[in-house]
Amino acid sequence: MKMIILAGGSGTRLHPLTKGTSKQLLPIFNKPMIYYPLSTAMLAGSREILIINTPYEQDCFKRLLGDGSQFGISITYAVQPKPEGLAQAFLIAEDCGFLQENEPCGLILGDNIFYCSNFREKLKFASREASWIVKNDKLDGRATIFGIEVKDPWRYGIVEIDKDKQAISIEEKPKEPKSNICVTGLYFYPHDILDKAKAVKPSARGELEITSINQMYLEEKRLSVELLARGDVWLDTGTFDSLSEASSFVEAIEKRSGKMICCPEEIGYLNGWLSEEQLNDIGISMSKNEYGQYILDLIK
Ligand code: TTP
Repeated sequence: MKMIILAGGSGTRLHPLTKGTSKQLLPIFNKPMIYYPLSTAMLAGSREILIINTPYEQDCFKRLLGDGSQFGISITYAVQPKPEGLAQAFLIAEDCGFLQENEPCGLILGDNIFYCSNFREKLKFASREASWIVKNDKLDGRATIFGIEVKDPWRYGIVEIDKDKQAISIEEKPKEPKSNICVTGLYFYPHDILDKAKAVKPSARGELEITSINQMYLEEKRLSVELLARGDVWLDTGTFDSLSEASSFVEAIEKRSGKMICCPEEIGYLNGWLSEEQLNDIGISMSKNEYGQYILDLIK
């Protein structure tokens, strides 16, 4: 399934860090932030990825990620002139020719990091649910959002679910939360996503809100919630504290386990999209540091 990584935004909460560069290019320990959502998209089995940037930063992303062939994927790029909301991603994807009518599509925010057990299975399941299914001679498919329990629900978008993990209400930053399940920045939508995105009206703050899309699927009883487990980790990296905590977390886990979190070259190789020879060449190009060494060790 095609996936969009939305990596624009203004990153004002991280000024002055993000005055001269994109938030999604900042380091999270040993990798640029964008490697993490990119890895999530690849774990979901996606090889066709659209990265949306601001007009000022796109060249840097292109220099870093190129056409994606070093990860065994295909990356295309588009620009979001102003941060006018997450739901705009699908309209931009259509305008640039990445997404057609009647096509399912996933979305991940460029500053979201996931480290979860059985994640690949959960992602693949969500992707399958959204994929084209013909039911009663009609195209059908379900949307899935990923939720995780938080201790401060009033700070987030909060979803209430029934026993079958179907969403029954969604509220933005509720004063009296109906649950403590927060909506993360990872969404899978079925074939009618473009119709839904086109129907979204700007909110009071002038943005095309992703919540409006989720609400439409909820009303049609087509919105599932994949609830991440206790111990699963979801980090968004929009503030000084969360940025620094994310780096420390990745460093601690990687040093302890000897395994990298969200190394796209490794995922490309494990998915069978990169050959040993390609991996070897990439490893050699960075063999002076631990990242290159790690890649070379994957082949041994
Ligand atoms: P936010 O953290 O909501 O916004 P931001 O990155 O501009 O940061 P700040 O609040 O500090 O000004 O965005 C979440 C993610 O979504 C982030 O990766 C940027 C991306 N984004 C866009 O690319 N376009 C948009 O229109 C919006 C709202 C967000």
